[in-house]
Amino acid sequence: MGLLLLFLLAVCFTASASAAAEDAYIGVNLGTEMSDAPSPTQIVALLKAQQIRHVRLYDADRAMLLALANTGIHVTVSVPNDQLLGIGQSNATAANWVARNVLAHVPATNITAIAVGSEVFTTLPNAAPILVSAIKFIHSALVASNLDSQIKVSTPHSSSIILDSFPPSQAFFNRSWDPVMVPLLKFLQSTGSFLMLNVYPYYDYMQTNGAIPLDYALFRPLPPNKEAVDSNTLLHYTNVFDAVVDATYFAMSYLNFTNIPIIVTESGWPSKGDSSEPDATLDNANTYNSNLIRHVLNTTGTPKHPGIAVSTYIYELYNEDLRSGSVSEKNWGLFDANGVPIYILHLTGSGTVLANDTTNQTFCVAREAADPKMLQAALDWACGPGKVDCSPLLQGQLCYQPDNLIAHATYAFDAYYHRMAMAEGTCNFNGVATITTTDPSHGSCKFPGSGGTNGTFINGTSLAPSSNSTSSGCPSRYIYNGGAFMSSAMIGIFCWIVVFL
Ligand SMILES: *[C@@H]1O[C@H](CO)[C@@H](O)[C@H](O)[C@H]1NC(C)=O
Ligand SMILES: *[C@@H]1O[C@H](CO)[C@@H](O)[C@H](O)[C@H]1NC(C)=O
Ligand SMILES: *[C@@H]1O[C@H](CO)[C@@H](O)[C@H](O)[C@H]1NC(C)=O
Ligand SMILES: *[C@@H]1O[C@H](CO)[C@@H](O)[C@H](O)[C@H]1NC(C)=O
Ligand SMILES: *[C@@H]1O[C@H](CO)[C@@H](O)[C@H](O)[C@H]1NC(C)=O
Ligand SMILES: *[C@@H]1O[C@H](CO)[C@@H](O)[C@H](O)[C@H]1NC(C)=O
Ligand SMILES: *[C@@H]1O[C@H](CO)[C@@H](O)[C@H](O)[C@H]1NC(C)=O
Ligand SMILES: *[C@@H]1O[C@H](CO)[C@@H](O)[C@H](O)[C@H]1NC(C)=O
Ligand SMILES: *[C@@H]1O[C@H](CO)[C@@H](O)[C@H](O)[C@H]1NC(C)=O
Ligand SMILES: *[C@@H]1O[C@H](CO)[C@@H](O)[C@H](O)[C@H]1NC(C)=O
Repeated sequence: MGLLLLFLLAVCFTASASAAAEDAYIGVNLGTEMSDAPSPTQIVALLKAQQIRHVRLYDADRAMLLALANTGIHVTVSVPNDQLLGIGQSNATAANWVARNVLAHVPATNITAIAVGSEVFTTLPNAAPILVSAIKFIHSALVASNLDSQIKVSTPHSSSIILDSFPPSQAFFNRSWDPVMVPLLKFLQSTGSFLMLNVYPYYDYMQTNGAIPLDYALFRPLPPNKEAVDSNTLLHYTNVFDAVVDATYFAMSYLNFTNIPIIVTESGWPSKGDSSEPDATLDNANTYNSNLIRHVLNTTGTPKHPGIAVSTYIYELYNEDLRSGSVSEKNWGLFDANGVPIYILHLTGSGTVLANDTTNQTFCVAREAADPKMLQAALDWACGPGKVDCSPLLQGQLCYQPDNLIAHATYAFDAYYHRMAMAEGTCNFNGVATITTTDPSHGSCKFPGSGGTNGTFINGTSLAPSSNSTSSGCPSRYIYNGGAFMSSAMIGIFCWIVVFL
C-alpha cells in the first residue's frame, strides 16, 4: 500500500509539473511579403499541421482573421505604425479600429492581444509622444465591449532601447524615453498586460564583432570560464537571450516596476546571408531556433526569474522573399511559401509544436519484465485520471489485439506520453515504462506519435478531472486479473487528491 501510494504520488506529481510547464508557449510571426504568398486557408493548414497555437499578425487582415476562426489558435493582431498617429489622436478612430478589426471577429477568432505599433521608439520616434494615448484609446474601446480582460494591449520594443545591457543588473531604458516609458509601464501594470520585447541575439552577435561568442548566442554549452557572470548578482548567464530578458527586468525594476511579465514578440536566426553575413547559415538557424524552442517550452525562465515563463514568437513562419535589405532579411523563415520546412528542427523530447523531427521519433512502451501488478495499476491510472482515450483497446477496436497487459499498457503509456508532449518524466510510470525509437504500431493500430504528428495533439491543458468523469475514474474494463490490491476508482480518487493539493 505504501509503495502504491508512493507510485501514485510520483505519477501525479509528474503530471502536475507538466501542467505548469504548459504556461509557456511558442508562437510564430506571420509576415506575407512573398511573391507567391500562400492563401489564408493554406497558412492555417500549416499552423494546424505544425500544432502552432499562437500567432502574431503585423496587421489585422480580415481574410486571415476569418481563416483563423474556430481553430482555437490564439491571435495577436497589430496596429501598423502607419495607423498609429491617427489612433493616438482620436478616441473615435481607435474605437472604429477595434470595432472593425476585433469586435467583428471575436469570439470565433480568439484574439488575445493587440500590439499597438512596432518598435516605435526606434522606427517612428515622432509617434512616441502619442503611443500611450493610442494604447489607452484602444484599451478603453475594449473596456466598453467588456473584452479588456481577455485581450491585452501592449507595444513591442526593440531591445536596443535598453542601455548598458551587460551586466543585466545595471541595465536601464534609454532615459530619453522615460516620459513615455513610465506611463506605459503604469498602464501595463494596472491592466495586467505584459511588456513586449524583440530579442535578436543574431544582431547582438553581429554588432559586437566577436566579443560575444557564437556559442553564447546560439544557446550552445559554454565552458564554465566562458559563462558571463553578473558581478553584482553573481548570476551566471549561458546565453544572450536570457541576458537580454533579464536586462529588461532590471530596467523595469530601475523604474520601480517589478511585476510586469515579458513576452518575446520576435526572436529567430536567418538561415542564409550574403558574404558579409557568414553566420546566417542553415545550421546556425536550426541550432538557435531548436534551442530557443526547447528553452522556452521547458519554462526554464531566466537566471533572475527561474521558472517564470517567457513565451516567445519565432521570427518568422515563412521566408519573405520580397522584404528589402540584405539576403538574410529574406531568410528568417522556418518554411518556404509552399510550407516545406527550410530545415528540420531538432525538437525531440520538447513537445509537439513544430516537431517534424521524424528521424528521432520516440515512443513510450511497457517494460517486458515489469511487475504485472504495477503495470496494471499504471494502465488503470493512464486510462482513468491520466485521461488517455483508451477506447481503441476495447474489444473489437483497432488496438484490442493482441489482448494482453503489456500491449495494452504500451498503448496507454504512449498515448499519455504524447499527450504530455513527450515532456521529460512523462514516460516512467514508476519504472514500468521506457522510451524507445521503434514504432510499436501494428496492423491498423496506429500509436500516438506514429507517422509524424498524428495523434500527438495536446488536447486540453488541464489535468483536472472533467465534471462527469468522477464515477468513471478507471473503468474496470481495462482490468485484467483483478487489480486485486486496490480498486481502480480509489486509485483515481487518490490521484486527484494529490493533483489538487
Ligand atoms: C481563447 O483563449 C483563451 C486563452 O487560452 C481561452 O481561455 C479562451 O477560452 C479562448 N476562447 C475561445 C473562444 O476559444
Ligand atoms: C474613449 O471612448 C471610450 C468608448 O470607446 C470611452 O469609454 C472613453 O471614456 C473615451 N475616452 C476618452 C479619453 O475620451
Ligand atoms: C537614446 O534615445 C535618443 C532618442 O531616440 C537617441 O538620440 C540616443 O542616441 C539614444 N541613446 C543611446 C545611447 O542609444
Ligand atoms: C523608486 O522607489 C524608490 C524608493 O521608494 C524611490 O526612492 C525612487 O525615486 C523611485 N524611482 C523612480 C524612478 O520612481
Ligand atoms: C529544463 O529545465 C530543467 C530544470 O528546470 C533543467 O535542468 C534542464 O537543463 C532544462 N532543459 C533544457 C533543454 O533547457
Ligand atoms: C515534415 O517535413 C517533411 C519534409 O522534410 C514534409 O514533407 C512533411 O510534410 C512535414 N510534416 C509536417 C507535419 O509538416
Ligand atoms: C536524435 O536524438 C539523439 C539523442 O537525443 C541525438 O544524439 C541525435 O543527434 C538526434 N538525431 C537527430 C537527427 O536529431
Ligand atoms: C492519422 O489520423 C487519421 C485520423 O485520426 C487517420 O485516419 C490516419 O490513418 C492516421 N495516420 C497515421 C499514420 O496513423
Ligand atoms: C479533443 O477534445 C475534443 C473534445 O474536448 C474532442 O472532440 C476531440 O476529438 C479531441 N481531439 C483529439 C485529437 O483528441
Ligand atoms: C460528459 O457526459 C456527457 C453526457 O453523458 C457526454 O456527452 C460528454 O462527452 C461527457 N464529457 C466528457 C469530457 O467525458
